[in-house]
Amino acid sequence: MSYSNKYIVFEGIDACGKSTQAKLFCEFLKEQSMDVYFTKEPGGTDETKIIRDILLNKHLTPKASLFLFLADRAIHSELIKDKLKKSFVVSDRSMFSTIAYQGFGDGLDLDFIEYANSFATGSMLPNLTIILDITLETMNRRLKNKDVMESKGEDFFKRVKDGYRYVADKYENVYILNGEKHIDEIFQEVIEIWKSL
Ligand SMILES: Nc1ncnc2c1ncn2[C@@H]1O[C@H](COP(=O)(O)OP(=O)(O)OP(=O)(O)O)[C@@H](O)[C@H]1O
Ligand SMILES: [Mg+2]
Repeated sequence: MSYSNKYIVFEGIDACGKSTQAKLFCEFLKEQSMDVYFTKEPGGTDETKIIRDILLNKHLTPKASLFLFLADRAIHSELIKDKLKKSFVVSDRSMFSTIAYQGFGDGLDLDFIEYANSFATGSMLPNLTIILDITLETMNRRLKNKDVMESKGEDFFKRVKDGYRYVADKYENVYILNGEKHIDEIFQEVIEIWKSL
């Protein structure tokens, strides 16, 4: 592995364990005296907090949501590039969420989404992406508030899971891990992958 800073992303459906594993991974890097900047999409910058607020609280059409996610990403990507000059960047979600949720879940034009993702990020891709895969039953159990499942429906999340498989097949350095395992076991797998890069 080269010594330049890396951009690492945690992905997957709601409650799959992204925040849990991202936090552990940040701690792991910090223990090795590495500078780490943790961020998230949407709403990872001061300017985009308002976009996150709209996306989470207003009922927008899928198309309108897509453009807000992309605007968020255009701003966030600049921050990531700046942070990468000095730090490792660990992000909770990325452009891959838009492929899975808006592309596969909502059925919006995939070619357009992939082009727009690339346009928004200036073709920046994560150096490592970990997708945590859980069943919809586990998602339901872990979500204390079932609004997400009830509003979107089971078929939506099945398509989102298909979307993540598409991402793993198409893009480099993307790994799907079984998010049903114990937190520590998953974390060990993440570290093994990290060391193998
Ligand atoms: N491997 C695991 N086994 C059992 N429970 C887990 C595991 N990973 C995370 N959890 C628990 O599941 C819940 C959701 O985890 P977490 O918040 O990390 O997921 P998330 O993907 O960030 O969710 P969200 O999409 O809502 O942000 C938390 O209560 C967490 O403690
Ligand atoms: Mg989270």
